[in-house]
Amino acid sequence: MSRVEIFEVGPRDGLQNEQRFIPTGDKVALVDCLSRVGFKRLEVASFVSPRWVPQMADSAEVLRQIARAPGVRYAALTPNQKGFDAALAARADEVAIFASASEGFSRANLNCSVAESLQRFVPVMAAASAAGIPVRGYVSCVTECPYDGPTPPAAVARLAADLRDMGCYEISLGDTIGRATPDSVAAMLRVVLQEVPAAQLAGHFHDTGGMALANIEASLEFGLRVFDAAVGGLGGCPYAPGASGNVATEVVHEWLTGMGWQTGLDRDVLAQAAAMARDLCKGES
Ligand code: HMG
Ligand code: MG
Repeated sequence: MSRVEIFEVGPRDGLQNEQRFIPTGDKVALVDCLSRVGFKRLEVASFVSPRWVPQMADSAEVLRQIARAPGVRYAALTPNQKGFDAALAARADEVAIFASASEGFSRANLNCSVAESLQRFVPVMAAASAAGIPVRGYVSCVTECPYDGPTPPAAVARLAADLRDMGCYEISLGDTIGRATPDSVAAMLRVVLQEVPAAQLAGHFHDTGGMALANIEASLEFGLRVFDAAVGGLGGCPYAPGASGNVATEVVHEWLTGMGWQTGLDRDVLAQAAAMARDLCKGES
């Protein structure tokens, strides 16, 4: 039976967008529930500037308080050396560096050019290698940038190859603003796959345009077998009208299993985690 892995990013990519500060205990409870679902990798923290993303300011505390399940890797975002040092001290099992295929989003998200962001990752990669910590790489805006418009597939391919060459074990291709379509995803993947094999790629689709499942389907046809998702669709709160975040894990899971893919996830525990996520969103007024 063919397997697809869902990489759960809700406690990071989802919660980082919530306006109300979610108490640390609630974050820990959500992660502890997710630890029982069967994920191999859970992104639960982000060591970025607390002035840029206040919601993630308690990342070290979250990593300290969670009950770590055997066989689960707890991941954290690290934009620079300072972030990596904090992630290491907090005992993150793996970290992720993140860059943009477009200059506009790089400036807005990291306050530097794409080339400068790669320079900042050099010491992170060296320190991670010395500490034996696997590093994942994200490429944002793989089909479209909110500032620069459509992203040339060649720019995505070049950046994905750069991150791979720096030592990232997997590159997650992000439709950051959820405007990709199966056609734009296919056009992008055709070029990226000339540089990086499907086995080293993941799809990271936000669902703003309601096309995330169609984009996952297109990616499956190109051989991708890892997809990022956020429980409850956290990140824009699908339960709040007009907003939507990462594609919801439980929706991806239901759709994949309906198509005959195996995910290794426990549907009932996943539903519990989705209910917890829904409650966290409800707390928002
Ligand atoms: P900067 O202002 O250019 O950085 O921000 P700086 O080096 O000049 O430092 C400014 C201040 O930030 C200093 O503090 C530093 O110590 C502090 P001060 O002396 O003024 O008190 N600082 C830090 N504090 C904590 N942790 C750190 C850190 N680094 C510096 N690691 C910086 C540059 C990268 C820090 C900033 O732009 C930043 O934090 N950006 C992160 C933005 C972010 O987290 N975005 C969301 C995640 S990316 C995403 O969601 C996309 C993804 O899901 C894929 C997709 O969907 O496409 C991954
Ligand atoms: Mg994202």
